[in-house]
Amino acid sequence: MLATTMTTSNLDKAAQAFAPESLPDLDQLSALSAIEAGLPDPAALARLANEYFSSVPTADPTGGAVASPPEDAALLPSQPGTTPIAPVITPVPLTSAPADVALPTVGTVSEPELAALPASLTGVPDTKAYGVPGGISAGDFSSVPSFGFVDEARSLYGTVPTAAVLAAPALETIKFPAETEVNTPAPLPGSVPTVHFPKPAEASAPQVSGVVAHDIQRGRPATYGFIDSVRSLDPVDVVPRLEPLAASSAAGPIAGAVAAPFDLGAVRRDFPILQERVSGGKPLIWLDNAATTQKPQAVIDRLAFFYEHENSNVHRAAHELAARSTDAYEGARDRVARFLNASSSSDIIFVRGATEGINLVAQSWGRRNIQQGDEIIVTWLEHHANIVPWQQLAAEKGARLRVAPVDDRGQVLLDQYEALFTPRTRFVSLAHVSNALGTVTPAAEMVAISHRHGARVLVDGAQAVSHMPVDVQALNPDFYVFSGHKVFGPTGIGVVYGKPDVLAETPPWQGGGNMIADVTFEKTVYQAAPARFEAGTGSIADAVGLGAAIDYINRLGMANIARYEHNLLQYGIEALQRIPGLRLIGTAREKASVLSFVLDGFSTEEVGKALSREGIAVRSGHHCAQPILRRFGLESTVRPSLAFYNTCEEIDTLVATVWNLKIGRGSGLR
Ligand code: ALA
Repeated sequence: MLATTMTTSNLDKAAQAFAPESLPDLDQLSALSAIEAGLPDPAALARLANEYFSSVPTADPTGGAVASPPEDAALLPSQPGTTPIAPVITPVPLTSAPADVALPTVGTVSEPELAALPASLTGVPDTKAYGVPGGISAGDFSSVPSFGFVDEARSLYGTVPTAAVLAAPALETIKFPAETEVNTPAPLPGSVPTVHFPKPAEASAPQVSGVVAHDIQRGRPATYGFIDSVRSLDPVDVVPRLEPLAASSAAGPIAGAVAAPFDLGAVRRDFPILQERVSGGKPLIWLDNAATTQKPQAVIDRLAFFYEHENSNVHRAAHELAARSTDAYEGARDRVARFLNASSSSDIIFVRGATEGINLVAQSWGRRNIQQGDEIIVTWLEHHANIVPWQQLAAEKGARLRVAPVDDRGQVLLDQYEALFTPRTRFVSLAHVSNALGTVTPAAEMVAISHRHGARVLVDGAQAVSHMPVDVQALNPDFYVFSGHKVFGPTGIGVVYGKPDVLAETPPWQGGGNMIADVTFEKTVYQAAPARFEAGTGSIADAVGLGAAIDYINRLGMANIARYEHNLLQYGIEALQRIPGLRLIGTAREKASVLSFVLDGFSTEEVGKALSREGIAVRSGHHCAQPILRRFGLESTVRPSLAFYNTCEEIDTLVATVWNLKIGRGSGLR
């Protein structure tokens, strides 16, 4: 065990820091950070606690060490009593779109085009988006207000067999805790169980200007339709038997296999779910990585190890498990900081995901700094999570949201983006990679343009961080956000990177424990970043799991991942383009992961269904990015999306399935 130098004088120092006489006059301090106020910060306290516990002999009667972590010890957080070893990570320079790309000038957005947007975007209620007056038509989800992503799948897999529920004549009243009542058909014996939701929001409930009021909770029928339908998919081959692509193609064989710069077989074995069989015994082909990525065993093991050996709240207690969990949690923060090449771990705030991260920035920095008449710019590529929070803020403040157009390939028109800036432009929020098209935006140039005009910038990296090296110091945004689950980590954890000076001028979003230095009934003194933005108990284990995911990625090498995926994407594009009647949506010169398409003569639902029968998971729908799909005249696409564990063989199966679907209809095989 490492000898330590923890002495009572350290503890005395901590105690003195809390002594009432050492506190400055709080009347003068309400806006000061803890450090400015002369109060101890949580990192210092955690360090003192850890030093203390490192000096205490182990409780293990055998004198043995703490149980071994499941991974390479050098890459895991240090345990009390061991020498911490920092992982060696070489930051890779950011590669971005060449500045001299000659962009076409089509796709200009004018006010008339904006006026031509569908009613659902302009505030005119779309009757299909509302519940059916007087009750719900169970089994007909077109009449049920939407849950976006779930609805896509629901429509993909058909309606729920709820005839029994429909036939039920009686009504029973179900009471909900919040004094709400919903009249729901009483289920008949043997019918599917019913899940009841609270009463919908009143139509008069506040809505964001220009956003349809969704009456989403009205007596939703019982089942998660799409899941039930997947389970009951008819095993009979509706799709013709797969043949080798070359045999069904007049165009000849597709390009040769893409070599991986790592042991692809070993990598695939690291992901237990990739061995799963679905759809009646077909090997799972996971091409829904833009929705979420699968988890390597190292991440699964790290989560289990945390709960088996480290679980405690962080920053709050003087016991050994608190020290272990604080080490693990702060170790994960250090990993994220290195992963993004942030200047300090204090620039890294843990949140639940990219959506929460954007909302945090809108509600904290935005509410303080956006005023009436100010302007916020987003791009036409954005995910709803990077539109709605800004719409809400704009509506609250009387500000204006402006949209940077894209060309017919799905590339941001840089000159028109710059033309949107006015002296009232305060903020820009842009995707690093489009989740619907895969476009890699010229984010570095866009950030530079924004700064030239004096506006702060957020870059939404949710679809970027798993595909390319990200260096926030080179990219230079004021904020960068991403979700852990899209980068092989757990759900429930995400990251906001903020520049230190920008975080310092940003008020907290939520109030509670952990984010405070001192509370009286008169006033509260906040901690500095990052604690100031982490009220309450966070997703501690999930943050640790994210750290393990980053370790895994670092072992493969992000540059290797980017190179392999680039070649895989090229392979997929070339193969899919050969299918007659298939139109790729999003053909940007700089693309990552995504192969969105539509197939002439088939709905995206039909294609998704056919792929699912072959064990292929893709997303079919609007991808929470309706504006960009509508820019292409579409409401949905089929969206295969790649990760480093995908193979050319999987793409072959995808292509053959789509091709055979097409041939099947033409030859009457379906
Ligand atoms: N944002 C996720 C997607 O693009 C859910 O599918």
